[in-house]
Amino acid sequence: MSDEIKKGLLGIVVDETEVSKVMPEINSLTYRGYAAQDLCAKCKFEEVAYLILNGELPSKKQLTAFEKMERKNRKLSKTLLDDLKKIPKKAHPMDVARTAVSIMGLEDKETRDNSSKANMRKAMRIFSKTPVALAAFYRARKGKKIIPPKKNLSFSENFFHMCFGKVPNKDIVKAFDVSLILYAEHSFNVSTFTARTITSSLSDIHGAITGAIASLKGPLHGGANEEVMHMMNKIKKPEKAHKWINKALDNKDVIMGFGHRVYKSGDSRVPTMREYFGKVAKIKKDKKFERIYDIVEKVMIERKNIHPNVDYPTGPTYHLMGFDTDFFTPIFVISRITGWSAHIMEQHAANKLIRPLASYKGSKYRKVVQLNQR
Ligand code: COA
Repeated sequence: MSDEIKKGLLGIVVDETEVSKVMPEINSLTYRGYAAQDLCAKCKFEEVAYLILNGELPSKKQLTAFEKMERKNRKLSKTLLDDLKKIPKKAHPMDVARTAVSIMGLEDKETRDNSSKANMRKAMRIFSKTPVALAAFYRARKGKKIIPPKKNLSFSENFFHMCFGKVPNKDIVKAFDVSLILYAEHSFNVSTFTARTITSSLSDIHGAITGAIASLKGPLHGGANEEVMHMMNKIKKPEKAHKWINKALDNKDVIMGFGHRVYKSGDSRVPTMREYFGKVAKIKKDKKFERIYDIVEKVMIERKNIHPNVDYPTGPTYHLMGFDTDFFTPIFVISRITGWSAHIMEQHAANKLIRPLASYKGSKYRKVVQLNQR
C-alpha cells in the first residue's frame, strides 16, 4: 500500500453512490440522473425531496401522500418548543439546528431502529420538524410570538409563514424553492461525508445529521453564504466594490462564495440561482447587491480565474427576502436534510466502517518515567 498522503482526501474515491453526480458532459449537478437546473424549472421542492429520498420522481398520488406526511409531521413536542424558547438568544441558529435535531433523537420512538423503513420514517420527521424548530427560534430570539405551522401551506410557504407571519408573492416563494432544490444534495461533500462516517459505525440518523449540521456550519462549506453577506455589507456600495475586491486579493484574502473543490471552471448551480437573485432584486426594487455581485465576480474571474459557487447568489437573495444573515446556512440545512438522509440510508444498506490510516509524525517510542523521578 502506498504511503502517499492525500490531504483533504483530494481526488480519493471512497465509495459508490446512486444519489447524485456532477456530470461535466452536460455541465450539471444531477440528482438520481436529473439535472438540478431542469428540476428547478419543472418541479417544486417537495418533488425533488421525494426524488432524492426515494430514487424516482413522484406520481401525483405519491406526491400528495408525501406532502401529507411532511405536513403531518411538522408538529413539535412541547418539550422541544419549551427548550427552543430557553436557548440563549445570541446562540448561532446553526447550533440551534444541531441541538434541535439532537433533541428530536431523544424523543423519537424509533431512534435505535436503523432498518431502512424506520430510517425513512425518521428522515421524514427530521425533514418536517427542523424548519419548524428553526422558525420558532427565529421568532423567540426577537421576543416575538412563535407561529405554528399551517397544513395548507407548502414547505417553502410554510417557512415564510412561520418566520414572518405572512407568505410573500409566488415569485419570491419560487426563488426560495429553487434555492432549496439547488442546496438539496451534492455527493460526498464534507457534511455528507461526515454523516456517512458517523453512520458507518452503525450509529443512528439523528446523530449523523447532528454531526452533518456541525460540519455544514463551517465557512469553507455552508457557512459561506453567510460570509458572502458580511462581505457585501462591508463593501457597502457598488462604487466601492472594485477597490475593495482588488485590495482583498492583494492581501491574499480568501473571498467567500468563490472557488470549489469539484468545480474549477464554474459551479453549474450558479446561473440558475443568479437568475432568481435578479428576479428577487427586481421585485424588491433593490439593485445594489446585484451591482456589487457583478463587479466582484468580474474581478475574481479576471484576476484569479476563480468562479462563484452557489453560496454567492443565495446570500444576497436570502437577505433581500428579509432573512437575518445568520439564518442563511440554516436554510441550507432544511434542504440538505434530504441529501444527508439519502446518503445515510445508502451507507446503512451497504456499510463498511470508515477508518482511514494516518502517517505518524510524533515521538519515537519512549519509556514512562514516574512523576517523582521526572
Ligand atoms: N478566494 C481566493 N483564492 C481562492 C479561493 C477564494 N475563494 N478559492 C481558492 N482560491 C485559491 C487558493 O488560495 C489556492 O491558491 P494557491 O494555489 O495560490 O495557494 C487555489 O485557489 C486553490 O484553492 P484551494 O483552497 O486549494 O482549493 P480547494 O479545492 O481546497 O478549496 C474551497 C475549495 C471551497 C475550500 C475554497 O475555494 C474556498 O475556501 N472558498 C471560499 C469558501 C466558500 O465559498 N466555500 C463554499 C464552497 S461551496
